[in-house]
Amino acid sequence: MDEPAENPFTPIFGKIPAYMAGRTDLVDEMDFALKGSGNDPALVSVFVGARGAGKTALLSLFANMAEENGWVSARVTSSPDMLEEILLRINRGASHLIDGTPKRKLASVSIAPIGSLSWDNREDAKTSWRTRMDDVLDQLEEAGVGLVVTIDEVDPDLDEMTTLVTAFQHFLDENRKVALLMAGLPYGLTALLAGKTTSFLRRATRHDLASISDYEVAEAFRITMEKGGKALDDEALTVAVEAIGGFPYMFQLLGYRAWNLASDRTQVTAADIRSAAAIAQRELEERVYEATYYELTEADRAFLTAMLEDSRTTKQAALAKRLGKQSGHVSRYKKRLLKQGIISERAKGQLEFCLPGFREFFAAREAEVD
Ligand SMILES: Nc1ncnc2c1ncn2[C@@H]1O[C@H](COP(=O)(O)OP(=O)(O)OP(=O)(O)O)[C@@H](O)[C@H]1O
Ligand SMILES: [Mg+2]
Repeated sequence: MDEPAENPFTPIFGKIPAYMAGRTDLVDEMDFALKGSGNDPALVSVFVGARGAGKTALLSLFANMAEENGWVSARVTSSPDMLEEILLRINRGASHLIDGTPKRKLASVSIAPIGSLSWDNREDAKTSWRTRMDDVLDQLEEAGVGLVVTIDEVDPDLDEMTTLVTAFQHFLDENRKVALLMAGLPYGLTALLAGKTTSFLRRATRHDLASISDYEVAEAFRITMEKGGKALDDEALTVAVEAIGGFPYMFQLLGYRAWNLASDRTQVTAADIRSAAAIAQRELEERVYEATYYELTEADRAFLTAMLEDSRTTKQAALAKRLGKQSGHVSRYKKRLLKQGIISERAKGQLEFCLPGFREFFAAREAEVD
């Protein structure tokens, strides 16, 4: 009678997992905020985490939850087109509420000449985005619907980011029912939050997506296996938790392989987990580390090699000497590597590898090359 169970693990970037490990408090907080009248501080939130920490999955889940609670959502990735993309997405998501061309009536009366004269002007183009959004928000408000915008992979160097954040500040001041949820690597968000024009974001709720605790990994792993019709004993679970090390992407890779290895059984053994962990580790290296490694330039690699001399934290000041370069060179490459999510700056001038496991991978690779 039962359908044959399917593999419940999702080792695909951006996929909402069958069971979200260790994010219960965040999910509850957002659920509460989305059910309220629209003034909960959680409605302006930023989610910060390393590659594979689960940022995109969370944004997607929250956008889905918002829609279930009667909001319209616009989900975009930070890019020069994102402002247009947001309007497009709203129109698509709310076509039944919005008359797709909010400007037409005005344009045919008096705005057209002014608009066409000043269209080349960047400032006016920006104001115009906010004005167009105001029209859209008026219409959503009439229908009693709020708007959630999610921005993934935040790039603080984009002008569009400033335009968007400034406009949101006004929408909030005007008591619009809007939410802004953003995610990115630590560097991107820290830079955005420190920006002058976007000072209101400092009031945003910042969530650091740290590694998931072993306890929560264990629970989620067992529950996900059960969703796929399988059980595991304590030893198997202990081995799995250790191999996962609190890293969501590894959770999915390992679970996926272990489930397949035990596909004709209902019990997953510690031996299954050990074999799966070896495959998963290789897949992690291929998909995350290899891709990251090949993007490095020679100067990036020299920088990281100089960092290997310290067991954990490297002082930026020490690097100039080790590399035999000016401090400007060090700052430039520090910024590149921060942006790629390979290193983080714990405190000013204190650098660390931050992508889990990449330090070891990098050291092994460089040893092969030499
Ligand atoms: N809380 C979680 N519990 C279990 N699995 C998760 C969790 N969060 C994310 N995942 C899974 O981990 C993988 C990576 O998630 P996601 O793509 O959201 O990461 P990311 O932080 O956006 O990474 P990137 O910085 O590379 O974009 C996906 O396969 C996803 O299904
Ligand atoms: Mg992502």
